[in-house]
Amino acid sequence: MPHDIPPGTVRLVGAGPGPAELLTLRAARIIGEAKALLYDALVSDDVLALAPLACLKIQTGKRAGRSSMRQETINRLMLRLARRGTDVVRLKGGDPSIFGRVGEEIDFLEAHGVPVEVTPGVTAACAAAAQFRFPLTHRGEARRVVFTTARMARGELVGDWRVAADPEATAAIYMGGGCVALIARRLIEAGRAPSTPALIAESAGGPEARIEVSTLLDLTRQAPSDADGPVLIIVGEVAARAAANRLLVRETLDALHA
Ligand SMILES: C[S@@+](CC[C@H](N)C(=O)[O-])C[C@H]1O[C@@H](n2cnc3c(N)ncnc32)[C@H](O)[C@@H]1O
Repeated sequence: MPHDIPPGTVRLVGAGPGPAELLTLRAARIIGEAKALLYDALVSDDVLALAPLACLKIQTGKRAGRSSMRQETINRLMLRLARRGTDVVRLKGGDPSIFGRVGEEIDFLEAHGVPVEVTPGVTAACAAAAQFRFPLTHRGEARRVVFTTARMARGELVGDWRVAADPEATAAIYMGGGCVALIARRLIEAGRAPSTPALIAESAGGPEARIEVSTLLDLTRQAPSDADGPVLIIVGEVAARAAANRLLVRETLDALHA
């Protein structure tokens, strides 16, 4: 390794929920100038198209059960490129700080003396809230937002669901599409009212977005999602506000893409 070359910078960049117009201006500039770009499965073609043709593009994550690159391999790859003096753009769906392993990557790179920068992005919960016009907090209904995820171990949903069961919180549950019914049961066991409004948003933020609004009790009977796109679950009084707008949203989206 040439030790006299100063290391390149690794830029951890939030790619948002899909459409390029939901990128920050800084993210768009960084992608537009990228020389080496490592991107996760949820990064859209729309966003990747902003990178220069000559840019080295490496996909690090795959969807639909296909295997992704191991985190250790991704870390080593970023390090190898940076040590050659190459600036690296590490693109992540949504916001890098929400279930994006950004902490692990920062720790690793800084421990090896590589400068790191982070650019935020629009996380799935915010994209869904904006598109389907419901708030994540609302006076008298939701004083808190809990970002949480479903973690399975030996077919069981693990973790403490009491915080997400708080009646004053909106729970935004990531990576739970495969176990919606289990999550709903666990939330009810933890004290959340079965009548609490709940919604499932698929591919939020983009033109293919869909939502289903129901209640927590209905979700206990929900089959695992077979959606192609990523799925987010929102539980809380605010979800009912999406119901009020649902038809209008559907009609508007249909009209936009007719
Ligand atoms: C590894 S996490 C990454 C989250 C991402 N960093 C963010 O801020 O949105 C992947 C999960 O995020 C959720 N997700 C990401 N993009 C989504 C979208 N456009 N619509 C719905 N859910 C999404 C899904 O629950 C998916 O399984």
